[in-house]
Amino acid sequence: MNLILLGAPGAGKGTLAAYLIDKMGVPSVSTGNILREAVKNETKLGREAKQYMDAGKLVPDEVVIGMLEERIAQSDCQNGFILDGFPRTIPQAEALDRIAKIDCALSLEVPDEVIEGRMTGRRVCLKCGATYHVQNMPPKKEGVCDVCGDELVIRKDDAIDVVRDRLKTFHAQTEPLKGYYGDQGKLKSIDGTQGIHQTVQFAVQALEL
Ligand code: AP5
Repeated sequence: MNLILLGAPGAGKGTLAAYLIDKMGVPSVSTGNILREAVKNETKLGREAKQYMDAGKLVPDEVVIGMLEERIAQSDCQNGFILDGFPRTIPQAEALDRIAKIDCALSLEVPDEVIEGRMTGRRVCLKCGATYHVQNMPPKKEGVCDVCGDELVIRKDDAIDVVRDRLKTFHAQTEPLKGYYGDQGKLKSIDGTQGIHQTVQFAVQALEL
């Protein structure tokens, strides 16, 4: 299955994707993680993307479309993939329709006021991409990644003023994708406010896994 996870920043797309990888037996592709890796390694892509990411804006379509196309052409995506953070604009969705057949877009519905609490408690591992929350999903040892043992950090774009800008960007540019996939009969929506395990259950039911 080729699945898209839609939702506001902090709605829980990455957290849900980590559970669905095993259930679906396909990889998760996070454009945010690919871009953060590029920023960390100070590549040409990373230097270009950083200014947009730090300001809570979207990286230009032409940059991310090429990057995504290259990633899903890799052999591990041949039997399907979970997209986390792509597409984010109508032109990105149209480009994706030209390069792959999408089966479902699953939207995680979480109101803005819940998002702010999630972002302030989020801790991430920049080495392996694992995500935690100080209350909802703490690591076994404070400040240390359970998966790879690297240090956990607060993402720069999780500062509250940047989160508010990211939410504005989401409502203006990404939320219209619900109409785009709704018109194609591919949209499914689930409540994303009910805790991580309940959200996974809702997704499993909606996707009939
Ligand atoms: P990206 O990394 O994709 O950020 P995002 O979409 O804003 O999503 P997040 O990673 O912030 O949140 P999430 O929904 O994955 O939530 P998570 O599971 O971590 O993109 C970053 C930037 O890169 C963008 O701003 C943009 O600049 C650029 N970019 C990326 N893709 C792009 C594209 N296609 N086009 C242009 N630019 C692009 O959960 C959040 C927290 O809540 C965690 O702490 C978690 O433990 C907790 N949590 C999760 N689910 C639950 C739950 N059900 N109950 C309680 N707590 C929960």
